[in-house]
Amino acid sequence: MCVNTAFAIMRNSHEAIRSHIKEMMVLIDGDNASQFDAFNTSWSDLHRIVQVHMSMEDHDMFPLLIKANGGPINLEHLHEADAENEKYVNDCIAKMQGTSSSDDKAMAWAELGDALKNWREAHLAHLKKEEEVMMPLTMKTGATPVERTRVVHTNLVTTALARNASEFEYYIGWCVRKLSKHGSPMQSPEVATRVFVRGLWCACSTAQWAIFRPVVQKNCTAEQWSALVDAYNIDVPVGDESLSLSAPAAAAAAAAATPAAASAAASATSASSATKQSTAAESNTAESGSGGGCCIIS
Ligand SMILES: [Fe+2]
Ligand SMILES: [Fe+2]
Repeated sequence: MCVNTAFAIMRNSHEAIRSHIKEMMVLIDGDNASQFDAFNTSWSDLHRIVQVHMSMEDHDMFPLLIKANGGPINLEHLHEADAENEKYVNDCIAKMQGTSSSDDKAMAWAELGDALKNWREAHLAHLKKEEEVMMPLTMKTGATPVERTRVVHTNLVTTALARNASEFEYYIGWCVRKLSKHGSPMQSPEVATRVFVRGLWCACSTAQWAIFRPVVQKNCTAEQWSALVDAYNIDVPVGDESLSLSAPAAAAAAAAATPAAASAAASATSASSATKQSTAAESNTAESGSGGGCCIIS
């Protein structure tokens, strides 16, 4: 069974975050405060990713799903609580940096561990709650897989790039790197990476895929990239028409230019339509067993 939606760029980023949290717990569970620098780097890196992710949710995903739901989804408080828990960790980090004696450092390290565990419990619950509420609603954002892919293109990929392109590129590369290394409890690294990348690829215009293609290739293994190319021909863009213009609209736009262009456009849109139909059929098959829009290939 093959299940995939473009919303994997949100759903599978949760799996990447979970993997990173496990790495941080290994660092903080050591009894030697000499691991502080490595922990602090890891924490800062996660903070950067979570900021991009929460920004996508606050600005794009929550409003989209509130509209799809026809009413509130009541998830915003999760981000407020997360900020409070994060502040506790940051206060402990500052205390750690302000101590010099080994005894004080040991006490500060232990307190930092407690703060991180408190943050971790709340953040994992936050991710789970979002998945329960958000994933079923993604299916209401469009009537077909192709429509939902356009929604992700317009309401998530395009907006995140416009808000802060470099941070969004970092986020994509980071998620690919984590997924390609760790996978998830339900997916091997190969499957988790494929699900995420295919979702992104489907939702990108030609120009957007030109940005992300090297980012993805650089952050997964050569074997994983080769498998992506073999499985989905992912090395070439889906094409703008499949995202922004229906075939008739493209033909009408071309006809308004010149008769010769109209003829050429008719051929081009026919080919594009075939590609789009192929993508739609693939997605339909993929989503038919999704159980509410989760992104699992098995
Ligand atoms: Fe969130
Ligand atoms: Fe989230």
